Amino acid sequence: MSVMERFRLDGKVAVVTGASSGLGVAFARGLAEAGADLVLGARRADKLAETVTMVEGLGRRAVAVATDVAKPEDCQALADAAVGELGRIDVLVNNAGVGTAVPALKESPEQFTQVVDVNLNGCYWMAQACARAMEPGASIVNISSVLGLTTAELPQAAYSASKAGLIGLTRDLAQQWATRKGIRVNAIAPGFFTSEMTDQYQEGYLDRMAARIPMGRIGDPEELTAAVVFLASDAGAYLTGQTVPVDGGLTIT
Ligand SMILES: NC(=O)c1ccc[n+]([C@@H]2O[C@H](COP(=O)([O-])OP(=O)(O)OC[C@H]3O[C@@H](n4cnc5c(N)ncnc54)[C@H](OP(=O)(O)O)[C@@H]3O)[C@@H](O)[C@H]2O)c1
Repeated sequence: MSVMERFRLDGKVAVVTGASSGLGVAFARGLAEAGADLVLGARRADKLAETVTMVEGLGRRAVAVATDVAKPEDCQALADAAVGELGRIDVLVNNAGVGTAVPALKESPEQFTQVVDVNLNGCYWMAQACARAMEPGASIVNISSVLGLTTAELPQAAYSASKAGLIGLTRDLAQQWATRKGIRVNAIAPGFFTSEMTDQYQEGYLDRMAARIPMGRIGDPEELTAAVVFLASDAGAYLTGQTVPVDGGLTIT
């Protein structure tokens, strides 16, 4: 197999959560370009339908299921739809996430719990549901954040805790499943990329962050997608349990 063939995902089925906007749409596009059929989950069915059209336009099959990843039963239903309609699950990209910035002394238990329910617990419910169906050689890619490794000025206890927790979850599932199930589990820690989430930042915040980034700019979602395809495919066959920052060097500052 040539080195470029290792990146191909022809004949494989990839599940992407949070595929209704932002990075999830870019990941669905990249995985489809690499040859995978897609199973797409998020809460907004109308936006998921647009991603289905995009994937089908690339000549790949796509199935969408309205999913709230905070509900274990929804996660199982998404995995069941993948197996029922496309026959298998080779890749899971745990991308669904919510971002908040609330000062710690003002944050309610409900606000904190809601973020952890989606960003951390949701990834676990999805990993459990998909791993039950996955065969050896499968790959799980968890979308963490540089906020799981460092701070970035805003009060983000819930978000940072959930993303740091996801790095721990990645490590543990990797060691549980490396030989017993033959499933690789890795995480990506993205820096700053334009999306609906980063649209919510106050004016000037991204400029200040860009000034802190050694490469001097925020990232292009396609630069993150390439890393997802690497970890999802046989190109990353000997990597497991790792968290890869894709951040223009932010976490070395
Ligand atoms: N953009 C960045 O700079 C950056 C940096 C580091 C990490 N990240 C991470 O990258 C991931 C994608 O974020 P993004 O920037 O693309 O933001 P985004 O455009 O707001 O996308 C978030 C996605 O998550 C979905 N989602 C939210 N809650 C959900 C739930 N309960 N169940 C199912 N899906 C849910 C949303 O869909 P619905 O609303 O339709 O459910 C949406 O598709 C997140 O995990 C985020 O933390 C982003």
